[in-house]
Amino acid sequence: MNLWLRQLKKDIPADLHTPVELARFELGSALPGLKTELRVQASMGDAYRIDPLDDGSFLLTGGSTGLLYAAYRLITDRLCGQEITRPVSSSPKYALRMINCWDNADGEIERGYAGRSLFFRNGRLDYDADRIRTLGRLLASAGLNVLCINNVNVHYPAQLLLEDYLPDLAALADLFRPFGVKLMVSVDFSQPMRHGVATADPLDPAVRAWWQDTAKRVYAAVPDLAGFLVKADSEGRPGPFTYGRNHADGANMLAEALRPFGGVVVWRCFVYNCRQDWRDTKTDRPKAAWEHYAFLDGAFSDNVILQVKHGPFDFQVREPLSPLLLGMKKTKLAMELQLAQEYTGHQIDLYTMIPMWKELYEELPADNIMSIAAVSNLGDDENYTGHPLAAVNLYTFGLLAWDPDVDMTAAVTRWCRLTYELDPLQEQTLVELLLSSRRTYEKYTAPLGIGWMVTPHDHYGPNPSGYEYDLWGTYHKADRNAVGIDRTHEGTGYLDQYPQYFRDKYGDPASCPDLFLLFYHRLPYTFRMRDGRTLIQRIYDDHFEGLEETRAMADKLSSIVFPEPDASVIRERMDKQLYNAREWCDIINTFFHRLSGIPDEHGRTIYD
Ligand code: GCU
Repeated sequence: MNLWLRQLKKDIPADLHTPVELARFELGSALPGLKTELRVQASMGDAYRIDPLDDGSFLLTGGSTGLLYAAYRLITDRLCGQEITRPVSSSPKYALRMINCWDNADGEIERGYAGRSLFFRNGRLDYDADRIRTLGRLLASAGLNVLCINNVNVHYPAQLLLEDYLPDLAALADLFRPFGVKLMVSVDFSQPMRHGVATADPLDPAVRAWWQDTAKRVYAAVPDLAGFLVKADSEGRPGPFTYGRNHADGANMLAEALRPFGGVVVWRCFVYNCRQDWRDTKTDRPKAAWEHYAFLDGAFSDNVILQVKHGPFDFQVREPLSPLLLGMKKTKLAMELQLAQEYTGHQIDLYTMIPMWKELYEELPADNIMSIAAVSNLGDDENYTGHPLAAVNLYTFGLLAWDPDVDMTAAVTRWCRLTYELDPLQEQTLVELLLSSRRTYEKYTAPLGIGWMVTPHDHYGPNPSGYEYDLWGTYHKADRNAVGIDRTHEGTGYLDQYPQYFRDKYGDPASCPDLFLLFYHRLPYTFRMRDGRTLIQRIYDDHFEGLEETRAMADKLSSIVFPEPDASVIRERMDKQLYNAREWCDIINTFFHRLSGIPDEHGRTIYD
């Protein structure tokens, strides 16, 4: 099994109830013979301090969860061959470090690439408790502390808030409690209407009473539930718009119900017109979230967190930072990332995300967001993430959520070292390969920030015009002369949603960073880029390079000796990636060649 803690051979016993008990167990079994003293200082919460003492023992101080994190820090440092020789203090940047599972009650996972649900079967919570404890260990050792177990698209019968489900929910919460992992549930805004209330209008007293009563019952069963996650008025989900109310009305109504119990409402901002007419050139989907939320800045209760996808579209390989993350200064925000490789290779193609996340943080002022969430890449496959190497994304997300300043090479190296016992050269090869995998994937897929050239719905493999005449607002408008949409002030005005320094950076095609060029601008194929190449030549070059890099990656990967069963899975998926990269390269190049009629300067094969 490829888990980064697979070296911890001992299963976690069922009779451990608190993080401190678990910390003692983990230290005792992972580092037998090492003397440690654990000192609880409740006010420290998740924070910890590790003091190496003269006699070779360690004093760990922290809140109860802090001690568990300290224990994993000590253990993983040791497993990585690092000694703690000086006092270490650490506290997380974000209080909520969340994983959002898109699991349905029937056991299917929306955008799941690692098997079926770890939590649900046949309409009920039904799981293997040992696997849940292993998952708890994985999450806690990466510093993650909130797990939303059901899909934001709440499909019935996932009525987790109903009486006959609550005991099961409570039992699952008990399992996760020693790991410091709190559960969260996705709720359907129209839920009261399934229980005899005539409306779901957030200002209606009967609706408010229903949610308050529901919160009381839920918190009686799971007193430490983190809260509710809500997708409202988004892609067909019910929401406050039906009643002429805005999203502050909706979120604050739920917040009022959760407040007595210390719960939060995590309200997603993924709201746009998903029934756009492709002929409509006025509507520009990336503008939608800002238009729905910016004017509400400051209107949300203090236990509401707006969860904003990192980019204005939907988890494409490259998107700018969402303007909401820069603009809503008086609102609590969470940035939403996606570990599930929906548009990024389905956990078949290699795609290590931390380079992308670090780029996002370069644009993000230090204190604009206060929580972080990621859509899960987990499932019940034996290795939990489908592709053994996709686990690097879960682990490094945890490290980033704890400390966004984490060094990405160090983070990826740490994961490799914890997961495999490779010789130093092979380890270095693997680290380099993982760190370059995102850029390679980007090169052979959609060019220069344009996105969306994927097979519709499934989102694996190329289809350059698959979304061009569809309802989703995802157009590139390539014709024989030019490609892209002008999103500057003169165009759709999307760029106007940003602060001035941002507009200056991206507004002029002559100085806009290459990789965002076609996100912001519509340009002729003959446009001269800063490096002297034409736009069309750059598209061809990137695609050929992406394919070549994938071939080189496959060679390098085959030189690394992985243990079984990982070795076979890695080999088999790399073969699929090679096929995928070739399809992308040839189809995208052919598409642009046929449109533009401009040959490749280097005379490489493009299929006419
Ligand atoms: C994407 C994804 C959906 C998901 C949605 C969301 O559109 O394809 O499966 O439901 O994002 O984030 O809510």
